Amino acid sequence: MSVEKLNLLKKNRESIELGGGQKRIDKQHKSGKLTSRERLGLLFDENTFVEIDAFVKHRCTNFGMEKQEAPGEGVVCGYGKVDGRLVYAHAQDFTVLGGSLGEMHAKKIAKIMDLAIKMGAPVVGLNDSGGARIQEAVDALAGYGIIFYKNTIASGVIPQISAIMGPCAGGAVYSPALTDFIYMVDQTSQMFITGPQVIKTVTGEDVSAEELGGASTHNTTSGVAHFMADNDQDCIEQIRKLLSFLPSNNAEKAPIVECEDSPNIALDELNDIIPEGSNKAYDMKDVIYRIIDNGDLHEVQPHFAQNIITGFARINGESIGIIANQPNIMAGSLDINASDKAARFIRTCDAFNIPILSLVDVPGFLPGTGQEYGGIIRHGAKMLYAYSEATVPKVTLITRKAYGGSYLAMCSKDLGADIVLAWPTAEVAVMGPQGAANIIFKKDIKEASEPGKVRAEKIEEYTSEFATPYKAAERGFVDDVIEPSLTRIRLADAFDMLSSKRESRPFKKHGNIPL
Ligand code: HXC
Repeated sequence: MSVEKLNLLKKNRESIELGGGQKRIDKQHKSGKLTSRERLGLLFDENTFVEIDAFVKHRCTNFGMEKQEAPGEGVVCGYGKVDGRLVYAHAQDFTVLGGSLGEMHAKKIAKIMDLAIKMGAPVVGLNDSGGARIQEAVDALAGYGIIFYKNTIASGVIPQISAIMGPCAGGAVYSPALTDFIYMVDQTSQMFITGPQVIKTVTGEDVSAEELGGASTHNTTSGVAHFMADNDQDCIEQIRKLLSFLPSNNAEKAPIVECEDSPNIALDELNDIIPEGSNKAYDMKDVIYRIIDNGDLHEVQPHFAQNIITGFARINGESIGIIANQPNIMAGSLDINASDKAARFIRTCDAFNIPILSLVDVPGFLPGTGQEYGGIIRHGAKMLYAYSEATVPKVTLITRKAYGGSYLAMCSKDLGADIVLAWPTAEVAVMGPQGAANIIFKKDIKEASEPGKVRAEKIEEYTSEFATPYKAAERGFVDDVIEPSLTRIRLADAFDMLSSKRESRPFKKHGNIPL
């Protein structure tokens, strides 16, 4: 081959790799962001990234676009290895027309998604985009339509992970919203449907971009995002870690990670972890860290609805999803946000064959008009639905309170838990002793010469009779009451026993989860 031809190839590639040029790259760095290629370099194992469609060009002729160079069409696409496993990725290049999405930009992303679905491998999208490319009008909108469609087809088939690494507006936020996980980088990323200027025009509201759609807003208030990162490097590192807990697709199991932290040891400190006094708070994470391998919990939505904990961990090397009430926050009660958070996580685990461990200390659904008007009935129903529909191994451990509807909602035997264990401190009942005594002994208390004394006696009677695990164990709703120190051993054993679980359901097109 002639040297000219090789030189031309080299020159073309170099110019594509320079994106929107050194000035814009410097601006990107100055604002605390890495370029799309630098981000991909960090995501993939060294020298494994292979680019696809670097030479694609737009074909827009509106608004002088025929003269506008857009190297790589503003998005770098390809595949490579993460911890030795195949992963696909697309990373928008903000230095090229603000990473805006036109027809051919969208086609590049769609091609990656098609390959990922066919090959059964995760897709990671690194988003840094001003949304639909305004000059391309309806072609840009159609591009988003194709991506939304493919996100939906891929949902539950391959893991889809989105990172928001710059200002993302309009269509640029709906595609991530259709994926399984959203990361946001603190201070340098925003997500919104309409930006501050439009809001000012339409509603007169004054709000900054950060306040409106920054990482903190979406991680704590809206619950749109699942993870917050300190910077681009941290974000990519977190994504690599998340991938380690996930299988490549819905027909596989997550990789087993050899465990040096043997589960076959008694943990005596667990015998004293529940405080004296049923209404005293404690940190459920102190239980979690002890029962999982190396105390390594990869929490999902750690800043949102903190009254419930969701996250990935391993027991005896096997990836599991944990859903746990947090008695430290709102006494661990279930509200709208906690229900949404848990239901979504349960479905993610079930879709990707990740066994579920539920840790229960729940006093009930949160009462009040705010919750009722907000639709706690349909939101709470999501948990009932998600647990009932899940066919992965389901193990439930009741540490203390398990009252009423919330007992059922935290993966009770009747919602399909395969194994339910309880500590001797468990209280499985329709409601707490105070409330129960006031209702069922109302007449005795009212007619007593010393109502206060009788009330206290009745509460005591109810507590010793019903606020225990033994009534539930008598009926087989609890499979065993165990000494807390043996929890890790018993959980490891339960998941091992359940590893060959097969459960099928009647055919349906799809269920109709309350939304
Ligand atoms: C074309 C765009 C663009 C867009 C940015 N650029 N957004 N070009 N279409 N949507 C270009 C700019 O012209 C500029 O080009 C470069 O990208 C960088 O943009 P700046 O504005 O200089 O950067 P910055 O100040 O950091 O602001 C970034 C931004 C802002 C917040 C994203 O550019 C912005 O508000 N863009 C518009 C956002 C938006 O409303 N998008 C449409 C959403 S509607 P030069 O050549 O100067 O470097 C949508 C519909 C889909 O997406 C709906 C589906 C449901």
